Amino acid sequence: MSGFNTSPTELPAWKRLEDLSNTARELWLPDLFEQNPHRARQMSVQLNGLLLDYSKNLLDETVLTTLMSLAEESPLNNHRRALFAGEVVNGTEEQPACHPLLRLSSATQVKGRAGEVVRDNLQSRQKMSTISEQIRAGEWLGCTGKPIRSIVHIGIGGSTLGPQLCCEALRGYIHPQLQFFFIANVDGAEILSLLKTINPEETLIIVASKTFTTQETLLNARSAISWFQSQLGVAQPESTPHFIGITANTENARHFGIVPERTLSFDQSIGGRFSLWSSIGLTVAIAIGYENFEQLLNGAHAADEHFLNAPYERNIPVILALLGIWYNNFLAMDTHAVLPYCQRLASLPDYLQQLDMESNGKSVSRSGEPVSYPTGPILWGQTGTNGQHAFFQLLHQGTHLVPVDFIGAVNDPLSNRDHHEVLLNNMLAQAAALMTGRHDQELPPYRQYPGNRPSNTLLMDELTPFSLGQLIAIYEHKVFVQGSIWNINSFDQWGVEFGKDMANALQQTGRIDRAMDGSTRLLTDYIETLTEPDQGSDSRTD
Ligand code: F6P
Repeated sequence: MSGFNTSPTELPAWKRLEDLSNTARELWLPDLFEQNPHRARQMSVQLNGLLLDYSKNLLDETVLTTLMSLAEESPLNNHRRALFAGEVVNGTEEQPACHPLLRLSSATQVKGRAGEVVRDNLQSRQKMSTISEQIRAGEWLGCTGKPIRSIVHIGIGGSTLGPQLCCEALRGYIHPQLQFFFIANVDGAEILSLLKTINPEETLIIVASKTFTTQETLLNARSAISWFQSQLGVAQPESTPHFIGITANTENARHFGIVPERTLSFDQSIGGRFSLWSSIGLTVAIAIGYENFEQLLNGAHAADEHFLNAPYERNIPVILALLGIWYNNFLAMDTHAVLPYCQRLASLPDYLQQLDMESNGKSVSRSGEPVSYPTGPILWGQTGTNGQHAFFQLLHQGTHLVPVDFIGAVNDPLSNRDHHEVLLNNMLAQAAALMTGRHDQELPPYRQYPGNRPSNTLLMDELTPFSLGQLIAIYEHKVFVQGSIWNINSFDQWGVEFGKDMANALQQTGRIDRAMDGSTRLLTDYIETLTEPDQGSDSRTD
């Protein structure tokens, strides 16, 4: 994309923010509310049952206005147009990033290659609907004529994090006769112990992999194949209704042995960490029903429309992105905590880690120059109230300042008033305590709380397929806005290839003879000397 390679440090607003950051820490957040009683109302935005309150952030009107100027001066508007037009936004792989287009219910407005992506995806959605309804109706039968009851989703990274997050978050919507398992790690204890607990006659294995070359996924899938062979005596279970493949490389799936009619595809232009909305979401559609999967898509589409049309000052992804840039680039806060006060969202930090850190963990600009400023933050998190008994000590009294996103739902049909009131009161209290601190001169220093610690609060009316889809897409666009302003490519991930190549080399050359360096050689020798013969359980469980 020409004319898009603008270093943010050249922008006038960036220079003004550098000046403003010199005095920012003198701001005392409680005073800002005293000075402006309308602060909370002015610094909150509502969208389709979601409230964002960003008034507890460490900035005044001048900083906020300057951040908005940064967005205006940056190529963001052009990037956003290119993204939704299906233009090449991933320069190193010469690909568009078509995930927002997967939320469309018609291809009529989309031209060229992007139109093909939408049309192909709508066909895949037809297959997803048919398969999910057949399985939910007990009409998808295994080799011995029994209906499927256990669905094992095998995949890793973007090929599992989205489906797993959605199935956990939307637990209340899951078909009562179906059980779902997610196997990602190549750690054999996971799949081998799982396979001992389920009935192969009633089990469907969904092998999800964009490339269909990921070693962890293929080894886990081969262990599942061995299990079917030993338990059911089926020679090629991968070619039976016990296996479905989901991939952007259907030839690799066919070579693996999964038949084309049970292989769902998606386009190469869909990045792994953005693929939940594609046929990778089949497991979600089976779990919650295709209509609810469409609600998930509709929520994400609502976020798309908001991101595309809302002025920056009222644009939730833009606001969240700019706040993150303020802390990351001007106040030296290089981590970001996401704390869902809803245990069903326990996997949200994991999902957002890949979304954010695999997108913006880059140090080379779009034009191939090393960047001279911080890019993607270290994203971490855990549910509340659990985190209050783990790391809130650091958040309140540590030397590191950590901007926090608190996420909650006003209503929860799976809880009750007593529990939910305590949960939400804890979330609100922690955010308030981080901001106001406590300065009681009667108390010793170790009982003081500095305060002035920033946070956002995102409150959904209820955790539903729509609100979850909207929330995830908001974070997708936040990451996109930050990458655009940082002038980096948020859609490739060359950094993960190096580790994969090293692991493959180590695997292929054997652990002993050709380790890469002295340390690795010492470690491989040590492992070799202590490794016992393979007594571990295998998939042939008798
Ligand atoms: O982490 C690297 C990565 O390529 C991710 O981008 C991707 O989601 C994951 O590995 C799994 O890749 P695949 O879907 O091709 O198995």
